[in-house]
Order: sequence, then C-alpha cells, then structure tokens
Amino acid sequence: MVLTILSFFLLFTTLATSDDGPAIVKSICSPNKTQHPEIFDVNFVNAMEIVSQKVATDGFGISVSGENVSDRVYGLGQCFGYLSSIDCQLCYAESRVKLPLCLPSTYARIYLDGCFLAYGYYNFSGDIVDNWDTSVCGSSTNESNSTDFRQMANGLVKNLVSEAYGERDYYKVGNVSVSSRLEIYGMAECWRSVNRSGCKECLEKAGESVVGCLPAADGKALNAGCYVRYSTEKFYEVSLSSSSSSGGSSVGRRVGVALGCVFVSAVVIGAAIFWIRRKGSSAGAGTDDMDDNSAEIIRSISESNLSFKYADLRKATDNFDQRNKLGQGGYGSVYKGVLPDGRDIAVKRLFLNTRHWADQFFNEVNLISQIQHKNLVKLLGCSIEGPESLLVYEYLCNNSLDQFLFDSFKKNELDWQRRFNIIVGTAEGLAYLHDASAIRIIHRDIKASNILLDERFKPKIADFGLARCFAEDQTHLSTGLAGTLGYMAPEYVVHGQLTEKADIYSYGIVVLELITGRKNSSLATSGEGHSLMSLIWDHYTSKTLMELLDPYLQGQCSEEVLNVFHVGLLCTQASPNLRPPMWKVVEMLTGKGRDLPLPTQPPFINVKGAESSSGGSEASAIFSSSSKYPASVNLMSLSIVRGR
Ligand SMILES: *[C@@H]1O[C@H](CO)[C@@H](O)[C@H](O)[C@H]1NC(C)=O
Ligand SMILES: *[C@@H]1O[C@H](CO)[C@@H](O)[C@H](O)[C@H]1NC(C)=O
Ligand SMILES: *[C@@H]1O[C@H](CO)[C@@H](O)[C@H](O)[C@H]1NC(C)=O
Ligand SMILES: *[C@@H]1O[C@H](CO)[C@@H](O)[C@H](O)[C@H]1NC(C)=O
Ligand SMILES: *[C@@H]1O[C@H](CO)[C@@H](O)[C@H](O)[C@H]1NC(C)=O
Ligand SMILES: *[C@@H]1O[C@H](CO)[C@@H](O)[C@H](O)[C@H]1NC(C)=O
Ligand SMILES: *[C@@H]1O[C@H](CO)[C@@H](O)[C@H](O)[C@H]1NC(C)=O
Ligand SMILES: *[C@@H]1O[C@H](CO)[C@@H](O)[C@H](O)[C@H]1NC(C)=O
Ligand SMILES: *[C@@H]1O[C@H](CO)[C@@H](O)[C@H](O)[C@H]1NC(C)=O
Ligand SMILES: *[C@@H]1O[C@H](CO)[C@@H](O)[C@H](O)[C@H]1NC(C)=O
Repeated sequence: MVLTILSFFLLFTTLATSDDGPAIVKSICSPNKTQHPEIFDVNFVNAMEIVSQKVATDGFGISVSGENVSDRVYGLGQCFGYLSSIDCQLCYAESRVKLPLCLPSTYARIYLDGCFLAYGYYNFSGDIVDNWDTSVCGSSTNESNSTDFRQMANGLVKNLVSEAYGERDYYKVGNVSVSSRLEIYGMAECWRSVNRSGCKECLEKAGESVVGCLPAADGKALNAGCYVRYSTEKFYEVSLSSSSSSGGSSVGRRVGVALGCVFVSAVVIGAAIFWIRRKGSSAGAGTDDMDDNSAEIIRSISESNLSFKYADLRKATDNFDQRNKLGQGGYGSVYKGVLPDGRDIAVKRLFLNTRHWADQFFNEVNLISQIQHKNLVKLLGCSIEGPESLLVYEYLCNNSLDQFLFDSFKKNELDWQRRFNIIVGTAEGLAYLHDASAIRIIHRDIKASNILLDERFKPKIADFGLARCFAEDQTHLSTGLAGTLGYMAPEYVVHGQLTEKADIYSYGIVVLELITGRKNSSLATSGEGHSLMSLIWDHYTSKTLMELLDPYLQGQCSEEVLNVFHVGLLCTQASPNLRPPMWKVVEMLTGKGRDLPLPTQPPFINVKGAESSSGGSEASAIFSSSSKYPASVNLMSLSIVRGR
C-alpha cells in the first residue's frame, strides 16, 4: 500500500516536470559521410546500446563499437544534473530516436532540454570546443530589456561558469532575482568525460557565447564538451533532487536512482504512456525532413492497413526497453510488444534509415505481407513515418531453433519427432517461398537462428524477403550482417551466384545440425582438422553415419534418421544443379521408402590443415576449395527419381 502511494507520488512528480517531453534544442550532423554505411550503422546501434545501459544507471556513458578503426563508432550520452533518473531515460530515448537521422554522417550530436547524445568515428569524448559550437537564443521579453537584467544575467552566468568545473560532477545551477517579478535561472555543466582543465576552458567559452543572447529571455550555449544556459523560466526542478548545489543534487540523483530501481517498472511505463500519448496527439513528428517522393509513399502506407503508428509501437515496447529485447537479427534488433488490443507482436527496429529507400521498402512490405503460410512468420505491417523504420511481425513465444539446439539443457525438449517436424515444416515453408507464392523469394539467410518455434515447436521461417530490398550480393557478404559463412552455399560465397539453390544448401546444413546436434561453427573444425562436412562424408562412405547422431537422440527411430541424413546430404552437394528443389525435398521427407539418388560429395572437404576456428581462415578455406567443385558432374545422379 505504502509502495503504491509512493510510486504514485513519484509518477506525479515525474509527470509534473516532464510536461511534453524534452524538446530538441539542436542537432548537428557532420557533412562527411561514412564509406561503409552498413557496418557503420551496425556499430552505431551497438555503441548506442552500451551508452543506453550506462545512462540508465549512471546518467552518463561513453562507448565504442567496431573492430576496424575505419568503421568504429564512439558514443557519448549524458543527462543534465537536474533530471531525475526516469526523466533521464525518457530524454535518452527521445535523443536516441532522433540522432540516427544524421546517419550516414561520420559524426553527429544532439542537444535536448535535459540531455546530450553524440556519436562519431573517433574518440571525441575529451573534445571541449570545435567549429560546431553554437548558441541558441530565445526571443526577447519586455522585462528583459533592461540594463539590470543584462548585468544580473551576466553575473549569474559568470558565477556558474567559474564554479561548475570545480564541482565533482561538473554541474552547477543557480538563480538571481532582478525584480520581484523577474528571476533568472542558470546552469553550467560539462560532460563527465572531459578533464577539469578542459571543462574550465569549455565553460568559459560557452559562457561568453551564451551572454551574446542577451537581452533574450533565454540563451543556451551548445559546445562540444559542455552546456550553459540561462533563462527567465525555471527550467530545472529541484524537488526530489534537492538544492541548487551540485553535491546535494547528486545525492538527490542517487536517491532518485534507488527509488527508481524499486518502482521503475510501474513508473517508467506510466510516464512513458502518458508522455507518448501526449506526443502522439501532437502528430506529424519526424516527417519534417522527408522528401516529396517519400511523402507520397508514406501517404499510401498510412492509408493501407499495414501502417502502424510509430508512437503506438514505441508505447507497445515501453520505449524499446532493454527488457523487451528479444534479440539482434540480421537487419536490426527485435523487441517484444503488446498492442492496445492485447495482441503480442515482435517489432524489428531496422538499422537502416527509411529516407533512402522508403518507396522500395513499402513495395516489399506490401508484397511480403501478402505471403501467408503456416511455416512462415507473418509480417503484419510497418511504420515508416517516424524517425526510424520499424517492421511488425507476429510474435512467437518460444524463440529460435538455435536457442534450443545449442543449449545442452533445453536440447532435451527437442526429441526426434519434434526435430523431424521442424525439418519438414521448414522445407514446406521454403518450398512455398521458392515456388508457390505469388513472387519467388530467395531467403538468402537460412540458419538455425532464423527458424522460430511456436509453443508447439512448429517452425516458422523469419526474415524472408528483406534481403531483396537491402543487400546487394556484395555488401551482403562484406558486412557480415547476414549470411553466416557456415551456412552459405559455395557458389554464393565464391561467385555471388544467388539462386534458390543457395537456400537449399543452407537448409541442408540446418538439417545436418538438427541430426548431429552440432553447431555450424563446429562444422568448420572438429577434432582432427576435418570439417564436420568431411566427417559426415567419411561416415557416409563407410556407412557409419549413425555414429554422428546427436547423443540425445540415441535409440529414437533410426530408419527415418538415415533417410533425413540422406536428404541433408543431397541438399548440401557442391554442385547446385544436383540439389533437389524444395518441393522434392518435402516429398523425399514425407514419402516413406522411396529410393533416393546417391549424394555426390559436398563442398569444402579435402582442405585439411587450412582450417582454424577463426572466421578469416574459415573463409579462405572455403575459397581455396572452390576449385574443387566436381569438375565432371555425375550424370547418373542427375536423374533424381521423382517419387510417385
Ligand atoms: C571531412 O573530410 C575531410 C577530408 O577527409 C577532412 O579534411 C575534414 O576535416 C572532414 N571534416 C569534418 C568536419 O570531419
Ligand atoms: C578491416 O578492413 C580491412 C580493409 O578495409 C578488411 O580487409 C578487413 O576484412 C576488415 N576487418 C573486419 C574485421 O571487418
Ligand atoms: C585535458 O584535455 C584536453 C583536451 O582533451 C587536453 O588538451 C589536455 O592535455 C588535458 N589536460 C590534462 C591535464 O590531462
Ligand atoms: C576516449 O577518451 C576518453 C578521455 O577523453 C578516455 O577516458 C577513454 O578511455 C577513451 N576511449 C577509448 C576507447 O579510447
Ligand atoms: C528594447 O531596447 C531596444 C534598445 O535598447 C529598443 O529599441 C526596443 O524598442 C526595446 N524593446 C522593448 C520591447 O522595450
Ligand atoms: C510588452 O509590451 C507591449 C506594449 O509595450 C504589451 O502590449 C505587451 O503585452 C507586453 N508583453 C508582456 C509579455 O508584458
Ligand atoms: C532562488 O529561487 C528560490 C526559489 O525558487 C528562492 O527561494 C531563492 O531566494 C532564489 N535565490 C536567489 C539568489 O534569488
Ligand atoms: C486489410 O487486411 C486484410 C487482411 O487482414 C486484407 O484482406 C485487406 O485486403 C487489407 N486491406 C487493404 C486496403 O490493404
Ligand atoms: C516454450 O518452451 C518451454 C520449454 O522451454 C515450454 O515449457 C513451454 O510450454 C513452451 N511454450 C511457451 C508458451 O512458453
Ligand atoms: C555459425 O558459425 C559462425 C562462425 O563460424 C558463428 O559466428 C555464427 O554465430 C553461427 N551461427 C549460428 C546460427 O549458430
């Protein structure tokens, strides 16, 4: 009871201060564009993820993501000292949503009323001043037009600037009275990543620039390493976070954090709902920098029933809360959400920015949403009118196949019957994509983590169709975003040849994984420098395949297992032409006792010693084996017996 009352109190004070949510003061995008937008975007998302976690606990965070120096992304986020922990998270969420509009710029930063967020290609966190430093001035009021006002404001700023850098968290607020009716409030703060002398220098510069706003009633100096503001409005709250001295306020913040931890779920959700509802009603947010062409597309989407409102999806996922994150897929992170009507959904937050491909994107969404099959994850719609693009899928509660298959505990759930159903269901879904749907779709990225399971362990293929829209073959390979090497067909890896035969190969790998219980990465290396592929082939030729059976399956239905093994080998043959089409795979799996053709050799074998566990040499092993495609195709095996 007491807790409830307290949490309502907290909710109330939060709402009282957060008003319409933090306003954007200014965002600045560097004119320089990154050379590798796909990798850069992924690193951006990862860097922001780390910043998000640190800001949530500490009000400040820096991060770096990316292996290669040329694509590395640094991040920095900070909430101003007067924000409560909850307001801080809301402010961060707002800035996180707006900042990517600057991509593919190599550097950008955004100032909100309450927080700051930046990313860049180099470690800018110690920067204090640069060419983009600027000030934003409000309009003048009658009363501010006096010499008193100027002098008082000048004095206040000077004081704050000279004191803030000495404070433990570089933060100082203060106020002075000009007259009984006129008060001036001020604040000075440095990012916690700059050193003390840097902070001093930055604040002094910012102080000079902000008084240039006088006699305006409000002035903000936006520098690389600090922020100074004065205003006749009381823009900071001292309620929970106590006095205007920094020591007090940081204690207050810590209290806020502690309280926030206790009530965080109730309050964040409540505040978010309230805030978003207000935001939602003010409409049109985020469409400002769409060009005409995109605007047309966006209109046609919003008139269709595929359209979801950005604000609704943000609300459904609690502001894309970490706790709702289901995973990170090829094209973006996926969050669980609940729509107002109670429907569970999965929301995919795409890495890439809508503005560049809105028309093509909608075309795809439109086409893909018409595809319906029991073994394909249904696309419910999308949102592209907001600041980032979202896709909405049906939600499957039991997660992806890899989480069961490669977990020694959960593996128990996958008995042979379930695995067999997964193998058949996946084949049916793929057969539909390849042959039966209105448009032929090559998935390009079949792997265990893209096969989702429903509550009865029925498989559904995720992420199909997107590849048509995004990745051209080469970027697809170079980004490593999708197309995991272990699953990729040799002709695709080596020559970029993409037909449905590449999907069939990847499917074959999944089948072999399901039978052997071994991961694709250990397909590359096992004990004696053999790939699992060649191990399987050796056992096949010596008719001892059953020795490779997943130990968890021992004693279950050997006849059928051998048949499925055989199909797996047929699908992974080196020569694409020999791999059976998916409709035939379905027949082979479901029609019992038919004669199957003999498989020919799979790729990637006879490359002993060249392999190691590192991705690079795995790739080179694949490349070096490319010349070992069966030069002469065994014509006999082409005559696959059509079963019936
Ligand atoms: C943009 O790139 C050019 C050439 O690489 C470089 O000289 C310049 O400093 C860069 N500008 C910014 C703002 O990073
Ligand atoms: C790093 O970049 C170089 C050349 O730009 C490239 O050859 C290499 O594969 C990249 N490494 C990674 C891990 O992306
Ligand atoms: C403080 O940071 C500035 C800017 O990064 C740098 O030039 C200066 O050397 C640093 N001073 C100290 C004492 O570390
Ligand atoms: C970036 O610079 C800051 C100081 O300005 C330093 O604390 C931090 O460790 C640096 N980060 C990396 C990844 O070098
Ligand atoms: C403010 O002062 C300027 C000159 O200092 C004057 O031109 C202007 O009319 C004044 N505005 C008001 C609203 O008093
Ligand atoms: C400012 O002064 C003008 C006339 O001098 C008056 O009409 C207006 O209401 C005043 N505004 C405020 C906010 O006091
Ligand atoms: C600052 O504001 C508080 C109330 O908001 C007031 O009690 C205090 O006197 C003010 N300080 C100054 C120096 O005017
Ligand atoms: C709306 O969705 C239904 C299926 O839920 C579909 O049959 C119908 O064609 C859609 N209408 C429009 C205008 O897209
Ligand atoms: C999901 O899988 C678990 C086993 O990991 C099972 O107990 C549960 O019933 C399944 N269904 C749902 C809806 O979670
Ligand atoms: C497949 O193997 C690669 C390394 O070879 C690994 O990075 C990737 O996560 C694996 N994929 C799955 C779905 O297990």
